[in-house]
Amino acid sequence: MVNKIKTGILGLDPLLEGGLNERSSTVVIGSAGAGKTTFAHQFIRRGLLEGQEGLFISLDENKEQIIRDALNMGWDDILYYIEEEKLIFIDASGKEFQVFIKRELPDFVSKWEGANIRIAIDPLTPVIWATPSRYQQRELLGFMLKELKKIGTIVATLEEHGPPNLSAPETGIPMYLADTVIHLKYRIGEDYSRELHVVKMRGSRHSERMHRYKIVKGLGIIVTDRGYKRKSSKENVEVLKKKVMERMKKASPLSISRIEKILNELEDEDIEDINIDELAEIIAEEFL
Ligand SMILES: Nc1ncnc2c1ncn2[C@@H]1O[C@H](COP(=O)(O)OP(=O)(O)OP(=O)(O)O)[C@@H](O)[C@H]1O
Ligand SMILES: [Mg+2]
Repeated sequence: MVNKIKTGILGLDPLLEGGLNERSSTVVIGSAGAGKTTFAHQFIRRGLLEGQEGLFISLDENKEQIIRDALNMGWDDILYYIEEEKLIFIDASGKEFQVFIKRELPDFVSKWEGANIRIAIDPLTPVIWATPSRYQQRELLGFMLKELKKIGTIVATLEEHGPPNLSAPETGIPMYLADTVIHLKYRIGEDYSRELHVVKMRGSRHSERMHRYKIVKGLGIIVTDRGYKRKSSKENVEVLKKKVMERMKKASPLSISRIEKILNELEDEDIEDINIDELAEIIAEEFL
């Protein structure tokens, strides 16, 4: 079983089966003003409050700006954590990313061997843009995430340019490489709205819906509509079992015992939106 850690985003953990998997990498994608930096701060902050150390890697904004963002959100204890060296910054702005990732990062990681910290990279975008070929992007990013996972759990943000539908070419490779992808879908204009969507999460059952979120000073991002139904009702599973078994009369005892096992486990799954007759038909076809 993987260890779950709390994201620090209010209302988000239940959508992720309890939180992020420890030593995993998460990419948070969003357009300007979507809340990426706020997300990164909340993630690090949650760890600090629990006594875990935090590492903030900035690739284009300077440390002072990042601290100012936190202070503006009302999180002035950030100064204490910096003072106590519980929160460390790596300012890689202006650096040659290839050199930084291939040479400086492994040295840093080896110094932190055995640690279990929280790492925020905000934003990851400059690395993508500085790397001309997709092959190099994949190699460099893959290496960076692999190195950093040795010492903790990563949240990296990615800017979304263009329509908020994850179609931009620069989002492709980070989305493949990350264990978890969260989309902060921010639309401006007449249909102004903020919605969060868990696009993928390796090894976990997660919400597949859109959830509205707000950003509030002091609290940060709050996921406000969590009408997330994960468990299907027992009655539905019972009806499904009956319908499947009716179709499986000619099946071998081995097939029947296999199917019974699967059906019993369905009580924890979200199958509410699948037509029961159709599902019974599909299952019976597969196992008969
Ligand atoms: N102190 C604050 N109080 C209330 N809301 C805030 C505060 N600071 C930021 N916000 C809200 O949060 C939004 C997102 O801020 P944030 O800096 O996290 O976005 P971002 O996705 O990192 O943006 P960018 O792409 O420009 O870096 C702001 O546009 C604003 O609506
Ligand atoms: Mg930002």
